[in-house]
Amino acid sequence: MKFFIDTANLDEIKEAYDLGVLDGVTTNPSLMAKEGISGEENIRNHYKTICGIVDDKVSAEVIATDFDGIVKEGKALAKIDDKIVVKVPMIKEGIKAIKYFHSEGIRTNCTLVFSAGQAILAAKAGATYLSPFIGRLDDIAFDGLELISQIVHIYQNYGFETEILAASLRHTMHLVKCAEIGADVVTCPLKVITGLLNHPLTDKGLAQFLADHAKANKG
Ligand code: G3P
Repeated sequence: MKFFIDTANLDEIKEAYDLGVLDGVTTNPSLMAKEGISGEENIRNHYKTICGIVDDKVSAEVIATDFDGIVKEGKALAKIDDKIVVKVPMIKEGIKAIKYFHSEGIRTNCTLVFSAGQAILAAKAGATYLSPFIGRLDDIAFDGLELISQIVHIYQNYGFETEILAASLRHTMHLVKCAEIGADVVTCPLKVITGLLNHPLTDKGLAQFLADHAKANKG
């Protein structure tokens, strides 16, 4: 399972990369705005900087919602760096654009996915990645993880090559459950990745080991 970090914050990206387990980055317009990044030039430069930090895929989202606009913006984003994956919303014009990008060899991440039907459509169009939002489904009392299971099952039935990129993860259990279910990728905030380190018995056990070592080696 690949780990992507879901942020546009450079310090968090560097911290996750330094851990040695990061496979990529996903961003969205809200995350870029949160970092105060605005204007075409600044946005482009920020993506360049992110691509300079990580070894692999960086999802950059289009703002346009019409086919021509999505294609124009997506092509410009893809030219920034080979690592860029064009993130396209799950709308009619988006699906047409994903199909077009697929024929042009441009990688895509179909975002804002909340149903199995949308997942089938994106795979048919040739999306490289599919981003179902688990946490936002949970927020409205639907089972986000159940959707991931459903999509894994459907994609296996037909050998769809689209990778399931579980998004909108809120805690480490989401991540562990995604691994059990068989999501190809998870994208999550830094705290979810570093949260995997934590177990009270690890802390207690290490403290005991160090104390015993110190006792046996004193003087
Ligand atoms: O980037 C897409 C997704 O991961 C958003 O997550 O926490 O805003 O629902 P969240």
